[in-house]
Amino acid sequence: MKKQFLLCVFWFCLLIAVPIFGAQAFDATTFTKKCSSCHTIGGGNDVGPDLKDVTKRREKAWMRKFIASPQAVISAGDPVANELLNKFKLKVMPDQEMSDAEFEQLYAFLETGGAGLAAPVTYRKVSEASSYDIQKGAALFNGHLRFQNGGPACFSCHSAGAAGILGGGAFGPNLTRASVTYGDNGLSKVITLIAFPNMTEVFKDKTLTSEEVFAVKSYLFDVDRNTPVVDNSNLKKFFFLGLVGTVMTLVLLDFAFKFRRRKTKRPIY
Ligand code: HEC
Ligand code: HEC
Repeated sequence: MKKQFLLCVFWFCLLIAVPIFGAQAFDATTFTKKCSSCHTIGGGNDVGPDLKDVTKRREKAWMRKFIASPQAVISAGDPVANELLNKFKLKVMPDQEMSDAEFEQLYAFLETGGAGLAAPVTYRKVSEASSYDIQKGAALFNGHLRFQNGGPACFSCHSAGAAGILGGGAFGPNLTRASVTYGDNGLSKVITLIAFPNMTEVFKDKTLTSEEVFAVKSYLFDVDRNTPVVDNSNLKKFFFLGLVGTVMTLVLLDFAFKFRRRKTKRPIY
């Protein structure tokens, strides 16, 4: 009985302690973990805008709303959010769940200009790439050349450019326009950090060397340059045809399924 009582007290304390001690202050560490894959503070624009002086250019209430759900603010037709969306290549920032208290801490942190934040890394610019770098990047991407630390070829999960038409993995997204989405510094950063959930496991202890990152990035920029923009009207027609086809298939399947069920259910019940 006494044991049970003690156990109860223990769980109760834990229940109270976790929210109190678990709720960390929003500091440089939190920012690095949650925001730095897309933002710098004073290091220039990345996937998202540089957040230096953001507390001066935006109202606090707007920021609270925006951070909680960028998509909602954009959909509501907010002009600032839509301008940002266009400027940052139609990449929508993911919702960031946080309490009011956490937001206050974040706001204070942004006001300090990112106190305690490590200096943002600047990677080699793609403009320095030679045709050798691009070729090396292509060979690495397509698996003709092995990564030094044994990571798998990108091609096994991704396609890019013309290579995509001939094959390439479909597990990951097509990377033809990855350079447009992430930008020069951003693309190096994402390939270096490999922060995508489905990639972290296979690249564990097999990160790319900085030269390999540079080569692959240079190749992806080259792919974007050499892949003509697809005529959208055709794409839409194609999409529409696909949609009609899918709906018809579903209707047919539904029909077939109904028929089948009647046959199998009766004898069972
Ligand atoms: C996956 C990338 C990504 C992550 C992660 C991310 N953001 Fe963003 N953020 C963006 C993009 C892109 C924009 C530009 C608006 C848009 O397109 O949605 C943006 C815009 C913003 C803005 C408005 C900037 C301005 O100039 O008005 C703020 C503030 C902001 N983000 C804060 C944060 C904070 C704080 C975090 C971490 C808790 C975070 N973001 C995480 C991509 C990201
Ligand atoms: C095991 C399969 C796999 C391999 C190998 C792989 N990726 Fe990925 N990658 C993914 C998946 C899946 C995603 C989508 C995000 C997620 O689910 O994690 C992704 C996302 C990405 C993105 C973001 C794309 C976007 O549209 O936002 C980039 C850039 C990327 N990978 C680059 C690479 C590069 C460069 C290599 C080779 C060094 C590589 N990946 C190797 C599976 C892989």
